[in-house]
Amino acid sequence: MSEAWQALSAVGAIESRGRAGTFIQETSEPSRPVRYLSVGLAPSASGIDLSTSMPDPLLLPSLRTALEAVTGNSLAWTTSYLEDPVLPALEALLRSSWPYDPARLVTVDGALDGLARVIEQVVGLGDRVAMENPGFPALIDLLESRGAEIIPMAMDDSGVLPQELARALEQDPVAVFMHPRAQNPTGAAFTPARLGELVKVLRPFRAIVIETDHSGAIAESEDLSVGSFLVDRTVRIRSYSKSHGPDLRIAALSGPAHIVDPLMARRMLGPGWTSRILQSVLVQLLVDPHSQASVAHAAGVYSRRTFALKAALEEKGVRASPGDGLNIWVEVNDERSALLTLAAAGIRVAPGSPFMVEPLPAQFLRITSGLLPDEPEELAEIAGHVVVAARVLPSARGGIS
Ligand SMILES: Cc1ncc(COP(=O)(O)O)c(C=O)c1O
Repeated sequence: MSEAWQALSAVGAIESRGRAGTFIQETSEPSRPVRYLSVGLAPSASGIDLSTSMPDPLLLPSLRTALEAVTGNSLAWTTSYLEDPVLPALEALLRSSWPYDPARLVTVDGALDGLARVIEQVVGLGDRVAMENPGFPALIDLLESRGAEIIPMAMDDSGVLPQELARALEQDPVAVFMHPRAQNPTGAAFTPARLGELVKVLRPFRAIVIETDHSGAIAESEDLSVGSFLVDRTVRIRSYSKSHGPDLRIAALSGPAHIVDPLMARRMLGPGWTSRILQSVLVQLLVDPHSQASVAHAAGVYSRRTFALKAALEEKGVRASPGDGLNIWVEVNDERSALLTLAAAGIRVAPGSPFMVEPLPAQFLRITSGLLPDEPEELAEIAGHVVVAARVLPSARGGIS
């Protein structure tokens, strides 16, 4: 009994109210994704929405040929509950493009579904976990709703700093969450040297590494993975949302059998498997040279748009993160004033604070530079508004100064 009380108290599940006795803690709004929802709460603007981190619909590969190829013949193969959950053709393609040879490689319904399912397997109430700061708001929400204690890790342009990882690991987290490239919101990406340093720091500890390559083929950086060195301790998720379309709802997930097998068993009591029709569409898109060219073209366009905005901002002394992938992280004097200034110019962007596990020394905006116009004058005009917004100081009344 005494051990049970201690365990409950250690995870903050009970509250001692002196002579009144000991009570189970009340939880308010247990799993409302507060941060995730607040990214969309920037003031609305009638002009251009750069708050979403969504791919440009005009740069996604066309689905027409793939859908025709998949649905043109008999659909008898789509009627069974008993087949392998992953199409052998898709698994072969995934394995041939994976940065290492994992024990298990399966599909889930998007990267966020993958994260939620791994967290369910690996993280328990009161466990410590480490993640990048700033990081993906939905991941912070997921971890908080699980009752985990999050240890923030500071980053630079090459991802998590090795000394920050070492400091976090001293606190014995069960899992470390990292994004090897196109990190959301900063666009940071591992270099081979940084990856080597992080692996060296990780090696003596037990923590599982959970990596999300959420941008996949539209990222320009190398596809590097901790899994190439710590295969038995790495879960890796690659989304096809940004490269091939969010509505495919497909991400690939790899990991050791002791994590992925129970995950898939649990999934049988839910969606069961990823629609084989959608899996087949992805197979077609991955093998079709036109789709391949379309994804490569998109990566180049996103990179040019991001580079153009970054260059225009830096020329005026506004600091912006490296921006691999769809987003750029821009330092501003005051988040709220900057959001309002941009909204007044018809430009919607995301506030920086929902991305912060704990407050950072400066304030930021996340701008989905991947959705910028290609026309140089239009882009320069938007960059000009961002420069003005970044410089606005907070007014005493909280309005725009
Ligand atoms: C870091 C990160 N992970 C996961 C996702 C969601 O990916 P999916 O559409 O595959 O669920 C996003 C979407 O923006 C993201 O930025």
